[in-house]
Amino acid sequence: MSELLQGWHRTHYCAQPSEIDVGKELLLMGWAGTWRNLGSLIFIGLRDRTGVMQVVFNESTINKDVFELAKTIRSEYVLAVKGILQNRSEGMENPNMKTGKWELLATELKILSKAETPPIYIQDDLDAAEQVRLKYRYLDLRRPRMQEILRMRHKIVQVAREYYAENGFLEIETPILCKSTPEGARDYLVPSRVHPGNFYALPQSPQTFKQLLMLSGFDRYMQIARCFRDEDLRADRQPEFTQIDLEMSFVDEDDVIAVNEGFIKKLLKETLDYDVELPLRRLPYAEAMERFGSDKPDLRFELELKDVSDIVKESGFKVFSSALEGGGSVRLINAKGAASKLSRRNIDELTEFVKIYKAKGLAWMSLKPEGMQCTFAKFLTEEQISAIKERACAKEGDILLFVADPDNSVVFSSLGALRLELAKRLDLIDESRIELLWVTDFPMLEWDPDENRYVAVHHPFTSPKDDDIDLLKTKPGKVRAKAYDIVMNGNEIGGGSIRIHSSELQERMFEMLGFTHEEAWQRFGFLMEAFKYGAPPHGGLAYGLDRLVMLITKTSNIRDVIAFPKVQNASCLMTNAPSSVDDKQLDELFIKKFTPEKE
Ligand code: AMO
Ligand code: AMP
Repeated sequence: MSELLQGWHRTHYCAQPSEIDVGKELLLMGWAGTWRNLGSLIFIGLRDRTGVMQVVFNESTINKDVFELAKTIRSEYVLAVKGILQNRSEGMENPNMKTGKWELLATELKILSKAETPPIYIQDDLDAAEQVRLKYRYLDLRRPRMQEILRMRHKIVQVAREYYAENGFLEIETPILCKSTPEGARDYLVPSRVHPGNFYALPQSPQTFKQLLMLSGFDRYMQIARCFRDEDLRADRQPEFTQIDLEMSFVDEDDVIAVNEGFIKKLLKETLDYDVELPLRRLPYAEAMERFGSDKPDLRFELELKDVSDIVKESGFKVFSSALEGGGSVRLINAKGAASKLSRRNIDELTEFVKIYKAKGLAWMSLKPEGMQCTFAKFLTEEQISAIKERACAKEGDILLFVADPDNSVVFSSLGALRLELAKRLDLIDESRIELLWVTDFPMLEWDPDENRYVAVHHPFTSPKDDDIDLLKTKPGKVRAKAYDIVMNGNEIGGGSIRIHSSELQERMFEMLGFTHEEAWQRFGFLMEAFKYGAPPHGGLAYGLDRLVMLITKTSNIRDVIAFPKVQNASCLMTNAPSSVDDKQLDELFIKKFTPEKE
């Protein structure tokens, strides 16, 4: 028995008591949040992970020593309090608090631990710099909002484990010390002491292992898998993140999609009490790009792209004609009713905005009630102008925004981003809506001008569409893959594919990606050899757990959904990782330190 606790056992969490506990003796433990000393009365907001209970020390009813001890309590002291739950006196109730009707009239007190004044306030409307919050993450995590987010994260993992187990998936762990499997990012490497000069790679995902589990006959696998990618971080990326990862045998795309639609339905019901209607919409990649300029369109609002290349082909506007001559297109977005909402200055801002996405400019046609304003109208005929309006379903009060470029991917990415920007500026997004869809039929390969070779859009283990296999030889860029992404409110929450399960096809794929026969076998021989011993057709998917938690808790910062996250430069502000190590440790690993000269 701990001497400090002396047999005291907590009877309730702070926010657990209810009407039926009034008049009973309770023993609560937690942190002193707010405290007020009114002379003969001391009020403490006692906090634990469930919430807060108001505790009162009343000089006239309590033992004198206990009252003296209560006077020494300060913020974040850890307390154990015995007392009687009572109704608060009339007018003192707090309807904003779960326990606002009651208070604990203290009879006994133990101070379990003292605390220095914390560097950040433990409250939700906190304006401390994120740097400070992350340095003192354990204090930051005491805040109710952070506790709520991590509780929701736990809930999401629980629902996943439950759902996939009910559907026959086995949870199986795969190694963290691996051989490199490329998913497009850089690997984190771990030096081997036993094999000087050799390295493990931390997994970018369990991809090859889960495929091998299918070859072993496990049929349905799932794992809450930690993944490591040494890539440039953004608001929705971390160097280590978590996937809900799964794989299935004897399936095609529809089977994987069906099982996962069941999961999403259950997940949103149990977390947000939101009813998802199944089946979800499916949009082939080409159509998603054509209509929304994005492979993860936000369908909570319209603003679709329209192609007007055919109409403006013959116009004398050089911006348009040279884009078309270069093999590109001219497309527009009709910002409905926004002619009077977007000033000239706003349009200049939007012009700068599309330049981020490599557009060379933004042409516009404003259909104001007092007449059309359009800088390039003089280059177009009346017929061309009315054909554009018709294509754009334009009415008085609308403004049409055009991007022309010889490279279609620039037209799509700039207008796709402009679409989101307009929705924000024009306040078109209904935050209470959830729009889910599958994007399917992704291209298999994409030309990388920097590397001067094709790279896999999803990953090299993805199967091409049966109808497109012959195109691998002639038009690799036209081959579609059996790949699918699931998109929620404009975020890719998961992605997967049906895999290649033949050694020959896998080898051909590596060849397409510029690997020599030797390189392919040296790196992936274990997988291609395995395919020779009876490989079932298989496929799967992985969700980004962190992104799911962000969307479900409506958080815009991935660091807020991870207990101990890294910052932009991949360091941990609390522990100061990464850090230098002793020379002795390096010697054992046969590693020589090399400090780059400061730029
Ligand atoms: P993919 O690379 O698309 O597929 O990853 C799956 C999902 O993981 C999330 N994600 C990330 N989340 C946070 N930080 C990151 N750096 C990060 N990178 C990816 C995304 C993404 O949709 N092995 C395949 C899956 C498969 O084919 O089954 C894979 O890893 O939400
Ligand atoms: P310029 O001829 O470059 O002065 O451009 C005339 C107008 O067309 C300006 O409003 C530019 O923003 C716009 N513009 C220029 N390049 C493009 C482009 N590639 N796509 C759409 N608009 C453009």
